[in-house]
Amino acid sequence: MATKQLVTKVWIAPGCIVCDACETTAPEVFHVQEQTCVIRPEALTPDFTKPRSELIVEAAQECPVDVIKFETIEVDAAEAPAPAPAAAPAAAPVMAMAADVPAAAPKAVSAVAAAAAAPAVSTDPAIAAMLKATTARGGKSGHLGGDAAPAVKALRSRKIDELPPDARYPKVLEAAKETLSEPKVTRRATVGAAAVGWAAFAGANALGGLALQRFMFPNVLEEPDPKVRIGEVSKFAEMAVGQVNEEYKSKGIWIVRLEGEIAALSTTCTHLGCIPNWLEAERKFKCPCHGSGFMQSGINFEGPAPRPLERFQISVEDGVVVVNRAKKFQQEKGEWTNPDSFISV
Ligand code: FES
Repeated sequence: MATKQLVTKVWIAPGCIVCDACETTAPEVFHVQEQTCVIRPEALTPDFTKPRSELIVEAAQECPVDVIKFETIEVDAAEAPAPAPAAAPAAAPVMAMAADVPAAAPKAVSAVAAAAAAPAVSTDPAIAAMLKATTARGGKSGHLGGDAAPAVKALRSRKIDELPPDARYPKVLEAAKETLSEPKVTRRATVGAAAVGWAAFAGANALGGLALQRFMFPNVLEEPDPKVRIGEVSKFAEMAVGQVNEEYKSKGIWIVRLEGEIAALSTTCTHLGCIPNWLEAERKFKCPCHGSGFMQSGINFEGPAPRPLERFQISVEDGVVVVNRAKKFQQEKGEWTNPDSFISV
């Protein structure tokens, strides 16, 4: 009897580098956010995943960091549901990229379009998927800004040879940038060092043409200051106890007014990194991905999240509240008693 493996459950393990490859392959299942990829809510049921088993398995094979996990069951092939047709990936941002390219480089723009249309050249499925994602969807794999996933930031401390393919180019960029900022290096030596870096990168990845150009000019190259000045302390002291300020959610921060203190909560769900929503009527943060719920204080009370939201360091400098996203405090480690984790009011 012929049998077939059907995916009944799919999830994302920690370590996603937000490269876009999975969403390009199966956009109806995967949704790449700023911090991590998540499973779309409709794809949390076996009825939805079974007809998309092949796409999910393909996405898992293409994932450069192997964070796509799934469970399968074996069924009689005759009883297996017909495979769902692959959905078209999001429109290629070729026009947006064209606007970014100087007028003096019209050939480069048309080459971008050609690269987007061309099949991936690498035989490595991960590299091919990365190339496809970058050209088809303007992949985010070069994003190293303040909102980058911790896994992406962690790559910066590793040697180029140890990095997954998609992470090599920002590392090379970073090395070249450091060389350029070294005052005792001559211009010729600097340009030469940068050229060696580029050449090594190009050789290592075997990615040609404008796809490589796209890789070399990722969306964000600078690490923004982790400190955010969010306003006069009086503004937050006047908040009612139990109130949540969402003005800085785009920077990954909720300001919560608790009894006798003000705290800055991280907006990253401690399950798999989605961004929950504050539901005022229900007085809770609710994660849209797998249903975790957190009280206004950040304490988890429902769903799969294993621990409370984290708090950022918060202080007052010259009457202004400053949140330092580089320093976090975890409740389960007893760190919320640290005076740097709240402001007394
Ligand atoms: Fe799974 Fe939030 S990421 S519940």
